[in-house]
Amino acid sequence: MKLNKFIVIDFDSTFTKVEAFDLLAEISLDGSPEKEAIKKQIAEITNQGMDGTISFRESLEKRIQLLAPKRHQLVQLADRLKLHVSESFKRNKDFFKKYADNIYVISNGFHVFIDPVVTDFGIKPENILANRFHFDEQGNVTGFDMDNPLSANNGKVEQLRRLNLPGDVYVIGDGYTDYEIKLAGLANKFYAFTENVERNGIVDKADHITPSLDEFLYLNKLNTAISYPKNRINVLLLENIHPVAVELLKADGFNVETYPAALTEEELCRRIKNVSVLGIRSKTQVTKKVLDHANRLMTIGAFCIGTNQIDLKEATRKGIAVFNAPFSNTRSVVELAIAEMIVLMRNLVDKSNKMHQGIWDKSAHGSFEIRGKKLGIVGYGNIGTQLSVLAESLGMNVLYYDIEEKLALGNATKCKSLAELLQKADVVSLHIDGRDANTHYIGKKEFDRMKKGVIFINLSRGHVVDIAALKQAVESGKVAGCAIDVFPYEPVSNQEEFISELRGLPNTILTPHIGGSTLEAQENIGHFVPGKFQDYINNGSTSNSVNFPNLTLPTLENAHRLIHIHDNVPGILARINQVLAGHNINIVGQYLKTNELIGYVITDIDKEYDPEVIKELRSIEHTIKFRVLY
Ligand code: NAI
Repeated sequence: MKLNKFIVIDFDSTFTKVEAFDLLAEISLDGSPEKEAIKKQIAEITNQGMDGTISFRESLEKRIQLLAPKRHQLVQLADRLKLHVSESFKRNKDFFKKYADNIYVISNGFHVFIDPVVTDFGIKPENILANRFHFDEQGNVTGFDMDNPLSANNGKVEQLRRLNLPGDVYVIGDGYTDYEIKLAGLANKFYAFTENVERNGIVDKADHITPSLDEFLYLNKLNTAISYPKNRINVLLLENIHPVAVELLKADGFNVETYPAALTEEELCRRIKNVSVLGIRSKTQVTKKVLDHANRLMTIGAFCIGTNQIDLKEATRKGIAVFNAPFSNTRSVVELAIAEMIVLMRNLVDKSNKMHQGIWDKSAHGSFEIRGKKLGIVGYGNIGTQLSVLAESLGMNVLYYDIEEKLALGNATKCKSLAELLQKADVVSLHIDGRDANTHYIGKKEFDRMKKGVIFINLSRGHVVDIAALKQAVESGKVAGCAIDVFPYEPVSNQEEFISELRGLPNTILTPHIGGSTLEAQENIGHFVPGKFQDYINNGSTSNSVNFPNLTLPTLENAHRLIHIHDNVPGILARINQVLAGHNINIVGQYLKTNELIGYVITDIDKEYDPEVIKELRSIEHTIKFRVLY
């Protein structure tokens, strides 16, 4: 494609995240006892070159002497550098191919390791401006091409002068030598690239700061991969969300801000104005008022299981997709359930408490193995099924009951009714969800149905058990032991006292809603929810959204994707297609799903289109939100 401007891109810390010589030191000095000392010396020489104490050529010579690289090590370096290409360059690979005639890479580094990296992106070999090593027959570096301006001071400027490009020149780089090209009058604009390093004294000289290549492409209307630069999409993560989430979102180019605690409604109303992506845990209340202030919000991620802290209906009406992490802590809950079964079957808590009081009560009375016992799992969902598999591997016989039709895993046996399960099970473990209809799902009648001496576990939701009935069942000996992690009322902070009729009961384990609280679960959540954000923002996919119609979409290739969210009223799809037909636009794929509040329509169309179409689609009556992906 023809362009009337030329784009000149720096290599170290711009095209790649790293400085090639730093990586080369790792390779060529590998195993040398002097490695650290030499690296320090190299850093000093680099600085001397930069501050003018020695000439650039002298600094290059000295560094090469210290590194003494061999040809095979330089090949290795190129392979390593390929793994360190800047993220925004990777996601905009098409741009380099499309505008190959107009893109130059310039570096004071060397062709031998730069060419393999950048030609992979479609950059023309003749457009790579760098130094060349001389090698002897054994592959040792003996020197470099002294005639090349890039091996001398002011090299980039001189190289650009010789190139004499016939059009506007835009330079993208992170260092002073890149800025010097503009200073010498050889570039129209200098873009300070800050994705990998932000150098003081460079950013304030730049015409624009470009936190990623996306921003540069957006400013110059050259985008081929994404429609809106990620660095302009503000992400606010509250409540100390796991750092892995921050890293993942930053690596994808988003502008991420974090805050260690929850915000009050007032504060959140203020902070949410320019936020497109909000991440919370269970303490932040996302009310209608907050959503009314959120004029740019596209999506909310609950970095936990529950979503009742979010006004889901209002979020849906406003076209905001909500995601959570429904299975990230499944395993943690299952492990706790298994541990508690064993502990309760052996009466360990009471025995341990007695020991602390100096009482030696050695007896096998009332102690059992779990092997061969019948485990009754009520609610055969994510947690129930995984518990089924683990319990079976420990030799238990699994029975389960679910209101939905569920496939039995392994040798588990389905019960036709709750009553059947309660009558047969030696251990009853609840893993149902907290829907209103499940309030007091297990009460006196259900305890009466259970076997005498049953072990009872509730790690699901507090209100599903009638606590007074449970207390009675424990006191009467019907329930020989119980483990309860969730309560009808739970203290709002660690400062509040936990008040419950269950305190002080024998063989009763009480835990403060920590079934899913492990570091592994937090990390899993930190991976899972950003993945959902990315699928939604980059691709339009809504799989696993708790409030949006779930659509899993193919990756976009050679098309534009129009994403239209509207009130669920009849005729919108027809209106969209009328607009497209009116502009002779070819639809290459279309997906529609609705729920009771909204309709979600994705239309993939051929490459080129009249921008007027976008205006018309936006103005269709009942449109809530509309966006285009490239
Ligand atoms: P899920 O939604 O995958 O499974 C719930 C299952 O229960 C579904 O198969 C559903 O059909 C079934 N069910 C609902 N009502 C029922 C009833 N009355 N009788 C029989 N089956 C019924 O949920 P998941 O992920 O397995 O979680 C289960 C429970 O564990 C939820 O209440 C969840 O909130 C809770 N949980 C507690 C944690 C803790 O820290 N203690 C951590 C994670 C989840």
